[in-house]
Amino acid sequence: MQCAGAFRTRILTTYRIVTRRVDSCSVSTLPREEPARPLVQTLVPGPRSLELARELQEVSEARPIQFFHDPQQSFGNYVADVDGNKLLDAFCFIASLPLGYNHPNLIEAAQSSLWLPHLVQRPALGYSAPPEWVHTLRTKIMSVAPQGLASVQMTCGCGASAVENALKAAFIWKRTLERDCVDPSPTELESCMRNQEPGSPNSMVVVSFEHAFHGRLFGSLSTTRSKPIHKVDIPAFRNWPVLPFPESEQDETRCLELVEKTLKGNRVAALIIEPILSEGGDLHASPAFFRGLRALTRRYQVAMICDEVQTGVGATGRFWAHEYWSEGLEKSGPGTSTAAAEIAPDMVTFAKKMQASGFFFKPEFLPPQAYRIFSTWSGDPLRALQASVIIDTIAADRLVERVRIVGDYLSQALHGLNHPLIERIRGRGTFLAFDLPSPARRNRFLQDMRNRGVVVGGSGTKTVRLRPALIFDTHHADILLETLASAMASQQ
Ligand SMILES: Cc1ncc(COP(=O)(O)O)c(C=O)c1O
Repeated sequence: MQCAGAFRTRILTTYRIVTRRVDSCSVSTLPREEPARPLVQTLVPGPRSLELARELQEVSEARPIQFFHDPQQSFGNYVADVDGNKLLDAFCFIASLPLGYNHPNLIEAAQSSLWLPHLVQRPALGYSAPPEWVHTLRTKIMSVAPQGLASVQMTCGCGASAVENALKAAFIWKRTLERDCVDPSPTELESCMRNQEPGSPNSMVVVSFEHAFHGRLFGSLSTTRSKPIHKVDIPAFRNWPVLPFPESEQDETRCLELVEKTLKGNRVAALIIEPILSEGGDLHASPAFFRGLRALTRRYQVAMICDEVQTGVGATGRFWAHEYWSEGLEKSGPGTSTAAAEIAPDMVTFAKKMQASGFFFKPEFLPPQAYRIFSTWSGDPLRALQASVIIDTIAADRLVERVRIVGDYLSQALHGLNHPLIERIRGRGTFLAFDLPSPARRNRFLQDMRNRGVVVGGSGTKTVRLRPALIFDTHHADILLETLASAMASQQ
């Protein structure tokens, strides 16, 4: 196996060789510097975006597209659109760009001979992997594994694929424990082919929470509870319970009691939860609530899946948001690491800012037989290489620390605005949100911000969410705040 230094040297050497061959339409056409400020020439979407949306809609879904971006002209924290606008982006492809646009480290790495064959053909990793896959997983992806999770399973790209496979791993683990035997019986093998008990454990459930979002595929959709339009018309796992998420710290005991009742009274394989319920409106609970969930899932032998698809990879000021669950325990001195290991979830899903998807898990969640968590591609080496560069850059540039500093600055400044329409400012790091008085006002605000040159997102019904890249700085925060202040002034 190559050591990290040799790996880097090889990448750089290759880069020098490859760049000599690169034609002028690659790196040289990319802007190297961010604009000093947003540049707005049209409404957003502008006429060219509207025309492209109309053409696309003739053959495919274009209605959710907010504007068409210009990938060659976007750089750093600024996204360029096809109408010549340059927008400060604090939403970053739905919270999925860790290093902004066209980061030089990624541009450089993308030209290495390591990346090229995977661009040309996507291998079936579950069947035949290239040797560097071993290095990528062991030294790069595993370098950011949450405490106590010594294994990783890569999936095919989206967050829902990570969640779906983590749910499967939980069911396999639970059934293996229940039957007290590794191998399924002939009756189980026969009955599962008819989708019936005992081979298909249809009475076994997954617990999730009101306002949760875990994806839109069949299993994950049954745990998603944010918006009816995501679920309507799709058959669901109808007996999978939904539990209330606490409305305040005072409400947490009641919610934990309901969790206990549910875990006690059902055959539960897994409980899945986001550390911050993101799509559902940036809802927070105390670290003690999550520790309470962990204690209950342990007591009732239920797998705890922490869905970090949106919260993971630094934006909250910790690499994983669930690291905050030990808050309050940190002062307790000796034994702290044991306590932290005890509150670690069994599995942590990731996608979005990793640019690759999958889940970390405790080794006991590895299925006892091969081919049970499997697909043709079983991941993507290109995306894993991309994740490696992201992980290295976050460490080298100390981006998680930077997020904490910029996040504090932004949060204090938002509070300092003391604006009568801005309610419930909340969040960790730059993963911040606030509410406006109504859904209509919030939607108008998002549109108005874009027309003034700043992209922010919505979540829940009336929440504004900020999801900038980890390279967002205080001077970007100032522009965001100025723009926000003028947009709010026009709302009154
Ligand atoms: C917490 C969480 N889980 C899962 C998903 C699904 O990810 P994807 O849309 O990539 O399938 C999302 C997407 O927003 C998410 O926020």
